Parts: sequence; structure tokens; C-alpha cells
Amino acid sequence: MTPSHFSSATCALLLFGLGATTAPAADLANGEALHQRKCTGCHDHRQYTRPNRIVHTFEDLHARVKFCDGAANAGFSADDIDDVVAYLNARYYKFIAPAE
Ligand code: HEC
Repeated sequence: MTPSHFSSATCALLLFGLGATTAPAADLANGEALHQRKCTGCHDHRQYTRPNRIVHTFEDLHARVKFCDGAANAGFSADDIDDVVAYLNARYYKFIAPAE
């Protein structure tokens, strides 16, 4: 095992173990409401579960929500983006167990 491989595996384990990968204050209900209001104009949830989806990691998801926030002109705050990311993760992508 190479050192870099070891450290990223350790990091992933720590993140899972601590349940600290979503912001502790992430508000899934707020994320759902914001998504409903601002994010269903161009695509619906099928985009998130299609076989050739473009988001493959939690980081991808965060980056994509930020990008689409700009595309949607939604004006989400950083907290809003975290909430929408947490909602989409919990409901569709399931990269990380939600911190409850
Ligand atoms: C202006 C149109 C538009 C709006 C509004 C929009 N999106 Fe998107 N979004 C897109 C397009 C286009 C794609 C697909 C890009 C592709 O297939 O290459 C996409 C893809 C995505 C994906 C990735 C789906 C996958 O393949 O895994 C996510 C996540 C996403 N959008 C989230 C959001 C969120 C959150 C909002 C609300 C802030 C939003 N989108 C609003 C245009 C939009």
C-alpha cells in the first residue's frame, strides 16, 4: 500500500466514523424546499438517478449544485447550498450516510 493510498483511505474512514461529512447544521427540509422552488425548472429527479449521471462523488455533487445555483440564478447562500447538497445526497446519491 502506498502512503498516499493509505492516507486517503484513512481519511475516508475517519469521515465515515465521525459522521462529520455533512455540515452538522445541514437542514434537509430546507434543502428540499429550496430544491423544489429553484431547481426543477430544467430537470427533475430523474437526472440524479440516470445510469450515466455526471456526479460520482460528494465533492462532484457540491460542485454541481454550486454550478447549477449559478445556472438557475437561485442565489443560494453557502448554507443553502450545503442544505441542498445534503438533501440530494440523502435522497438520491447516498455517497455519505446523513449525519442525524
Ligand atoms: C438553467 C437550467 C438548470 C437549472 C435551473 C438547474 N440545473 Fe442542474 N443541471 C442542468 C443541466 C443542463 C444538467 C446536466 C448537465 C449534463 O448532462 O451534462 C444538470 C445537472 C445537475 C446535476 C447532476 C446530475 C447528474 O448527472 O448526476 C445536479 C446534482 C444538479 N443539476 C443540481 C441542480 C440544483 C441543485 C439546481 C438548483 C440550484 C439545479 N440543478 C438547477 C441545468 C440546470
